[in-house]
Amino acid sequence: MRAFEATIAADERIEPRDWMPDEYRASLIRQIAQHAHSEIIGMQPEANWLTRAPSLRRKAILLAKVQDEAGHGLYLYGAAETLGVDREELLDKLHTGRQKYSSIFNYPTLTWADVGAIGWLVDGAAITNQVPLCRCSYGPYARAMVRICKEESFHQRQGYELLLALSRGTEAQHAMAQDAVNRWWWPSLMMFGPPDAESPHTARSMAWGIKRHTNDELRQRFVDICVPQAESLGLTLPDPDLRWNEERGRHDFGAIDWEEFRRVLRGRGPCNEQRLSRRRRAHEEGAWVREAAAAHAAKRAARAAATTTTPEATPAPQTTGARA
Ligand SMILES: [Fe+2]
Ligand SMILES: [Fe+2]
Repeated sequence: MRAFEATIAADERIEPRDWMPDEYRASLIRQIAQHAHSEIIGMQPEANWLTRAPSLRRKAILLAKVQDEAGHGLYLYGAAETLGVDREELLDKLHTGRQKYSSIFNYPTLTWADVGAIGWLVDGAAITNQVPLCRCSYGPYARAMVRICKEESFHQRQGYELLLALSRGTEAQHAMAQDAVNRWWWPSLMMFGPPDAESPHTARSMAWGIKRHTNDELRQRFVDICVPQAESLGLTLPDPDLRWNEERGRHDFGAIDWEEFRRVLRGRGPCNEQRLSRRRRAHEEGAWVREAAAAHAAKRAARAAATTTTPEATPAPQTTGARA
């Protein structure tokens, strides 16, 4: 206990073999699992446009981005496993609705411009949330976030560049970009979670160095970043109350519809059912891949064991790949 507290106080990292309080472990598992689930569910809205990307270049970019998100899911499930949970168990909790994913992915992607709005706003909000997590007190999570953030910044830029091309295009293209921003702006602000006063885990997560800033602080930072970017895009943000506050040195913005947030979180968003049923189906259809990977890992382990003379030197079987 003392070693744990000293490590946290010194702003150093807790590693998998270190002692940690049960609630610290449980809190991290909950957060990392929810994060991992969001990465893989988040592949769906954009994958919807892979076959309809307007050019080969756009298709290649989008393919790379969607694959990155699968990779983020893998790093994060891996990080969660270092806390002693099983990946199958986490996926089962996702599939049965016992663990959540970010409410943002329950909104539909109606036009090609949505791919741009998601990159600019959704990946942008994700970066704002995740950059401080690179300094999270749990080592494996912090290290996974370093790599994820580098890739997220590419995602944000491709979205911005896509929207810029549309905004400077024909009148119809400009209108399509504006419409996408209008629909994605408010849900993006909800990505930072409930207001601080209603956020049950914030204080403890901050004391443990899991979280570095509150939901409202991060949301404010995101708004301040987006306003000048929207201007250079030639697009407006759909908030009549949005204005610079000289005194605070930040932007004021309008009230968020938290009722909508709770509704989507409770499973009654526009796409909740579709997202979960597609995820379950993908998991079932991938069963043969998991079986093949497990058989391959077992074969390699058996071969390695046969070539090793002393039993002490036998490497542990490589089973992690089997559970992807
Ligand atoms: Fe991601
Ligand atoms: Fe991303």
